[in-house]
Amino acid sequence: MDTFDAIKTRRSIKSFQDHEMSKDEINKLLEAALLSPTSYNIQNWRFVIVTNQQLKDKLCELSYGQRQVAEASLVIILCADLKAWEKDPERYWKNLPEEPRKSLANAIRQSYSGNPTLEKDEAMRSCGFAAQTIMLGARSMGYDTCPMEGFDFAKVGKLINLPSDHIITMMVVVGKKAKEAGLRGGQLPLPEVVFENSF
Ligand SMILES: Cc1cc2nc3c(=O)[nH]c(=O)nc-3n(C[C@H](O)[C@H](O)[C@H](O)COP(=O)(O)O)c2cc1C
Repeated sequence: MDTFDAIKTRRSIKSFQDHEMSKDEINKLLEAALLSPTSYNIQNWRFVIVTNQQLKDKLCELSYGQRQVAEASLVIILCADLKAWEKDPERYWKNLPEEPRKSLANAIRQSYSGNPTLEKDEAMRSCGFAAQTIMLGARSMGYDTCPMEGFDFAKVGKLINLPSDHIITMMVVVGKKAKEAGLRGGQLPLPEVVFENSF
């Protein structure tokens, strides 16, 4: 599927068919997500994938009964490791020769050290890109998605044993749509949101 077709046909789907995704399809989607950009290539996203029906039902309950969570073939809980930057950062540049590799690792440490706001901002940026990659990748594989923040983050964190230095950023559910999305809410016109050179 052409990228623009994937962009135009991606909608937030609230009802899915009973359908099992193959392991290969799930891996293809996750491998694509790993190609999404992260600052300094720190790859701070972590993905908890759920296909087990009992667990999806529990997640549906923690999402205030939003049925798409129970019906989807796959639920991806996008998390981020806030401390990814200090966990052997040289491995994010393992393909480089020693000198630039060490220098990049030092730059990473300098940027993030003592800067919890940046850790959190970077978590949201990285997961945002990964989520869009997942949604467009899924669309081009013939699947549909819904990005979600309407759930109890603390209880979902407990359910998935979220490590104390990680956060959950959002969920994306994936499946074969059972119902078309409703009318688009209505997009703002370009001139309201685009500014040439400055506001
Ligand atoms: C961060 C985020 C959180 C969202 N949370 C939910 C949610 O909990 N439940 C839901 O049904 N839709 C959720 N949505 C979907 C939005 O309502 C939807 O993207 C928006 O209305 C535009 O529609 P479209 O995605 O079909 O273009 C969320 C979207 C985003 C980006």
